Amino acid sequence: MTKAKTFTKPIRDRPETILSLNREDHSKFRRALSHGFSDSALRQQEPLIAKYIDLLISRLHEEYDNGKKRCNLEAWYNWTTFDVVGDLVFGQSFHCLENIDYHPWIESIFKSVRFSAIMIALTYIGLGELVQIIAKCGSSLRRARQYTRNMLNVRLAMEGKRDDLFEGIAKKRDEWNISFEMLTANAFILVIAGSETTATTLSGATSLLLSHPDILEKLQREVRSSFKSADEITITSVNKLHYMLAVLNEALRLYPPVMAGLVRTVPRGGEQIAGRYVPEGTLVEVQQWSINHSKDNWNDPWAFQPERFLATPEAAAKDGDKLESLQPFSAGPRNCIGRKYDRIASFSDFFVYNKVT
Ligand code: HEM
Repeated sequence: MTKAKTFTKPIRDRPETILSLNREDHSKFRRALSHGFSDSALRQQEPLIAKYIDLLISRLHEEYDNGKKRCNLEAWYNWTTFDVVGDLVFGQSFHCLENIDYHPWIESIFKSVRFSAIMIALTYIGLGELVQIIAKCGSSLRRARQYTRNMLNVRLAMEGKRDDLFEGIAKKRDEWNISFEMLTANAFILVIAGSETTATTLSGATSLLLSHPDILEKLQREVRSSFKSADEITITSVNKLHYMLAVLNEALRLYPPVMAGLVRTVPRGGEQIAGRYVPEGTLVEVQQWSINHSKDNWNDPWAFQPERFLATPEAAAKDGDKLESLQPFSAGPRNCIGRKYDRIASFSDFFVYNKVT
């Protein structure tokens, strides 16, 4: 089903993004992007990602006296993921970890996300025309866009091929006649999609672990017995940390970063959905939060139990856990192109547990 424009593009004169493009243009655009998200590109990007994670760890040691002082990890996770994704998209860091503060662009991004949510709500209740007028005056949105343009100019001036997340679109710029405004809007989406989501996952996982010391201890044991030195920890080798991956899945279940809002429009002629006829034009969505907390899908849905993800799907189903109902990255042709990058989460989690906690 097509994406509902009310939710993907409430402000009409904004350029199309990967989130709002029609099916045909989307698949072309996505193919161009996909090289930057391939396994080989990820391997090339690994040293860059590791550099920021090392910086996170050394900063935490310096600032918090080896764990003796309190710290706001949510901010640190955001600083790290914005620095990483900023570098992977714009070829430059936001320097949050160095400055121990949010870059002004990120603050304006957070404001603009809130602003967009209000614009969507107003459009939804039929005030779409008012939204077009307000959008022309929204200063947080304008500021965020201007910063993005400046950073994109620097990125586009970089010589030579870069194996980053943006190269796929950047090199199609002339062939497809992609406007600078459309490039800007998509760079903006890539940075938000990649950073805040990962930081939210890490914050949720950390909060759950700190309130469940037995699970934290089990995880620490797995991590500390799996490697002889920190150099052995790579994006590939963290895949053998089965308990770590179960913890991350369970954190994604309880704190899905994209919990709702992926709204589609039922096509002409209506559609059968879950055995019921739904008329054309109806707005429908899959709400992750509800699915992840429903007794229909999970045994004791509000409990933090990573063990449920250690069982095979068949054995889990016997205990009342339908593992396949966890889809934090969505499903189908418009699912998350960056889902492999959630390994960044396990990667950085490991460093935190091994060296700091
Ligand atoms: C825990 C981390 C993440 C979660 C839970 C997540 C979740 C999602 C979801 C649910 C969608 C579907 C949105 C829709 O239907 O409109 C999506 C799309 C997308 N995500 Fe992620 N994401 C994560 C990390 C990332 C990362 C690290 C990147 C990039 C570095 C990224 C880039 C994207 C992009 C570009 C799309 C649009 C794909 C398309 O429309 O073809 N995401 N993500």
